[in-house]
Amino acid sequence: MRSVCVLRGDGIGPEVIDCATRVLNAVTDDIEIVHADIGQQAYKRTGKYLPDDTFEAMVDADSCLFGAVTSTSGAEYDSPVLGFRKRLDLFANIRPSRDFLCPGGIGVDLVIVRENTEGLYTQDEDEDEGGVTTRRRVSQDASKRIIRCAIELARGRRRSICCVHKANVLRKSDGLFLSLFTEAAENESDWLSHSDQLVDSAAAGIVTKPEKFDVIVTLNMYGDILSDVAAAVVGGLGFAPSGNIGPSHSVFEPAHGSAPDIAGMGVANPTAAILSAGMMLEHLGMKDESTRVVEAISAVYMSGTRTVDIGGDYGSERFTDKVIHYLPQAERRAGGRVLD
Ligand code: NAI
Ligand code: MG
Repeated sequence: MRSVCVLRGDGIGPEVIDCATRVLNAVTDDIEIVHADIGQQAYKRTGKYLPDDTFEAMVDADSCLFGAVTSTSGAEYDSPVLGFRKRLDLFANIRPSRDFLCPGGIGVDLVIVRENTEGLYTQDEDEDEGGVTTRRRVSQDASKRIIRCAIELARGRRRSICCVHKANVLRKSDGLFLSLFTEAAENESDWLSHSDQLVDSAAAGIVTKPEKFDVIVTLNMYGDILSDVAAAVVGGLGFAPSGNIGPSHSVFEPAHGSAPDIAGMGVANPTAAILSAGMMLEHLGMKDESTRVVEAISAVYMSGTRTVDIGGDYGSERFTDKVIHYLPQAERRAGGRVLD
């Protein structure tokens, strides 16, 4: 039995995560779910956005499934997401984009592997009279481990990897990342095909020829931006799952935020959350169950079902009913429901 800490969070977080846990319960009996609070509700209870007991539950679990939190601009706000990424050493942010809407099957199927611990996300900023200076670190150790992680991911896919950087301008920092990438990829050249691309041209490439990418490995901010671009190409943020992976912990979450504009309306697309749960299953060694989840999502879209965010009329619950219906044997499990 694997244990999963479920953190629903704010806004549409609880709505989409409840859909994902229903699918988890439908696809396996082998997961024990422990709930913990994070974000605004946790702050009301404890005065912390990432309370100590929540963090302990995350550490104790075999993996975590997280919705999203609403950030505030107040001085007291302390991002629980940056907090758990750092404290759990979740150095790799894995963001797949797959086109489930493509008529006739798979078109786009790429994964962005984003360095998650340094670059421009350490909030290391100093103000002076004339402006603000932000420090951006690219270290050998962090670069090597994200590159290694991306190469391993490519091994189980189409065996092609592209390093995205801006080494023509940031010659030292991005130059270091690129040279470490080239060295590591050349060591695997018997099975791995590798290339590199400037981030601006890669952004255009993801829009115009997304099907040519398999695995992209890149620095923190480039990965953040490019993964939203890649999500838009395959239907929007409602389709973008992600995993944050560290040496001994992992947190899976839809890439989107808490979407306060649609919270409580029952129209959020749960695809990203369900696919995140599917990624988690694979990470927990349940490859078969993970594949069934992805196949069910694919079958639902192939059947012509469309969620509200892409112009359809399927809300979160009804869409999830259909995903569970497309899972083999789903109706015999606890999370399943008989369709009307
Ligand atoms: P957002 O991702 O919440 O929403 C952007 C747009 O996409 C909105 O129009 C929203 O309705 C739509 N959208 C997002 N997910 C959707 C889904 N599953 N189905 C249908 N439509 C969906 O980003 P935004 O508006 O910039 O941020 C809202 C709040 O979320 C902010 O407080 C922000 O800080 C927070 N946020 C939290 C994240 C996290 O907890 N990991 C990540 C990103 C933002
Ligand atoms: Mg983002």
